[in-house]
Amino acid sequence: MKFNNIKYQLAPMEDVTDTVFRRIVMSCGVPDVHYTEFTSVEGMFSPGSFAVTQRLVYDESEKQIPLIAQIWGKTPDKYSMAVEKLIDMGFDGVDLNFGCPVAKITKQGCCSALINDFEKVDEILTKVLKAADGKIPVSVKTRCGFDSWKTQEWMEFLMKYPIWQLTLHGRIAKDMSKHPADWSKIAQAVEIRDRLAPDMKIIGNGDIKSLNQADEYIEKYGVDGVMIGRGIFENVWLFDRDIDPANVAKEDWIRKFLEHAELFKFTWEDRKNFAILKKFAKVYIRNFKGSSEIREAVYNCKDIDSMISVLRTHID
Ligand SMILES: Cc1cc2nc3c(=O)[nH]c(=O)nc-3n(C[C@H](O)[C@H](O)[C@H](O)COP(=O)(O)O)c2cc1C
Repeated sequence: MKFNNIKYQLAPMEDVTDTVFRRIVMSCGVPDVHYTEFTSVEGMFSPGSFAVTQRLVYDESEKQIPLIAQIWGKTPDKYSMAVEKLIDMGFDGVDLNFGCPVAKITKQGCCSALINDFEKVDEILTKVLKAADGKIPVSVKTRCGFDSWKTQEWMEFLMKYPIWQLTLHGRIAKDMSKHPADWSKIAQAVEIRDRLAPDMKIIGNGDIKSLNQADEYIEKYGVDGVMIGRGIFENVWLFDRDIDPANVAKEDWIRKFLEHAELFKFTWEDRKNFAILKKFAKVYIRNFKGSSEIREAVYNCKDIDSMISVLRTHID
């Protein structure tokens, strides 16, 4: 069974966790579960679906651990169609995004806005579970409320459905990421789970920066695992406990960025704007002498080949 280990999960992150970055992370340290970027179910079946379905591209090598497709949207029928397509595409699971706080999305009544619309959530979950039909496990990723804390009511509602895993981010949508995640709310969800849905897995999310911290939180808050997002920006070797990023040589950081850029070029050719890679300069090129100059050179690149040659000059 592929879902034996679920303790350490790499969070879905838009414009970050595409097939390329997921493979780079795996080359540094393998998480137990990983996800696609969130993908709109409406977009999957629209005339411009090509751009949307790039989010669902994966390489077979990624399937050594469960690879879950994350979807969002507003039309229950489109969710059914999406689930059928994801089964055909070979994903190991489907995750529903009921947590994104971004206004342009919540204004459409989607993602975290659904926390205030149980009727719509019921329609979506009913359709999704029917379409999944036991062929693919269904999970949910959400927050503790939209404009106010609603952990008790929201968890009690969700736990009526046969979803196998619920990832809870210890914040409400209105607060975006302004305050630290409140893990006492995640512990509250664990208590509710123990009472109402003992087989459901609870994954805690928010502000985890290392596997040691993950272990401490698993023990302290009773969750089955943790999901780690921004922590990977500070340490791309995070999922390998034996590597201390402070001991990684400058050349190895740059070499990893080069590997990322080359895999990006090979995978996407000109189908994705290379400028997205510039965001990663801060991930790999920092905390060593001369990093700001190298970053500056990367930011000035006009195409991917020049970026690759800038990086090469610093390791050859
Ligand atoms: C750049 C970025 C993109 C994100 N995109 C998604 C997404 O596509 N789907 C999702 O469920 N959450 C998304 N998130 C939220 C993360 O998955 C995670 O819940 C959040 O960052 C809190 O975890 P952390 O403190 O470990 O980063 C995104 C976060 C960031 C920083």
